[in-house]
Amino acid sequence: MINNLQDTIELNNGIEMPGIGLGVFQVENDATVEIVKNAIEVGYRSIDTAAIYGNEAGVGEGIKQALASTGLKREDLFITSKVWNAGLSYDETVIAYEESLQKLGLDYLDLYLIHWPGKNKYAESWRALEDLYTAGKIKAIGVCNFNISHLQDLINTASVVPVINQVEFHPRLQQVELRAFCKEHNIQLEAWAPLMQGGLLEDPTIAKIAEKYGKSNSQVILRWDIQNGVVTIPKTVSKERMVQNANIFDFSLTEEELQVVNAMNLEKRVGPDPAEFDFML
Ligand SMILES: NC(=O)c1ccc[n+]([C@@H]2O[C@H](COP(=O)([O-])OP(=O)(O)OC[C@H]3O[C@@H](n4cnc5c(N)ncnc54)[C@H](OP(=O)(O)O)[C@@H]3O)[C@@H](O)[C@H]2O)c1
Repeated sequence: MINNLQDTIELNNGIEMPGIGLGVFQVENDATVEIVKNAIEVGYRSIDTAAIYGNEAGVGEGIKQALASTGLKREDLFITSKVWNAGLSYDETVIAYEESLQKLGLDYLDLYLIHWPGKNKYAESWRALEDLYTAGKIKAIGVCNFNISHLQDLINTASVVPVINQVEFHPRLQQVELRAFCKEHNIQLEAWAPLMQGGLLEDPTIAKIAEKYGKSNSQVILRWDIQNGVVTIPKTVSKERMVQNANIFDFSLTEEELQVVNAMNLEKRVGPDPAEFDFML
């Protein structure tokens, strides 16, 4: 289990990934600059963006400014982006990767993910990711929103097993079977919408635990993530809340408290269901 904001977990290809990162979904490009700079300055080392978020340029500028202000080096950071559904052919994926690098102003990514499986679209895209990875252009490759059937299908033909499956995961959607499958295949689960996009911040069951430790609901949920070995990437635009979300290493949930949160599971989503989601923009 990780013990501080910069602590890492080892992925199945030996690459180290911070257990906590900052997500920047639904953040305007211009605003992203300051937010990413703040995050790195307060100690975050992992940033999660995607081509479809439209803020890769802002992330890149924030990184550039943070490297200048902190003296950190590019290799101290762990940067993730994702290829969007609209272009999952082999060639489109290679071009999308180059475009993401260009917008970010980087010459490699630590992690590149297929954003959604779509319907039978991911095989070619995965082949492109494998080639980019084998050529040394990406440190690690993975997927998002893959169900067991998608993963099984991919693994059957892939030469590289995904390092990560980034899925919606929070106390109301605990993905019990998928987590077990990922564990069995040494695929790290990463939580998107760990805070249920804000939906659990007033939840009374979590608030009761939070009160005991003098913590917020957000901190209890993120602590539950790390005690479960799940990589988590809460999004916030606020520097204060970034610090708060990372201040989860001075308390520990008891076995009983973990079970109380586990019992909240309803397998309820706030985002789309990957079994049906196939839209393009
Ligand atoms: N692969 C995928 O398909 C996929 C899909 C969705 C998201 N993601 C990734 O996962 C990341 C996280 O998910 P998410 O952004 O959807 O939702 P989230 O992290 O569960 O929730 C973000 C919400 O919680 C609020 N918040 C954060 N910390 C808080 C705190 N300490 N106190 C009170 N409110 C707090 C934020 O508001 P403020 O900003 O105002 O603080 C925001 O409204 C995304 O940013 C993105 O990088 C991936």
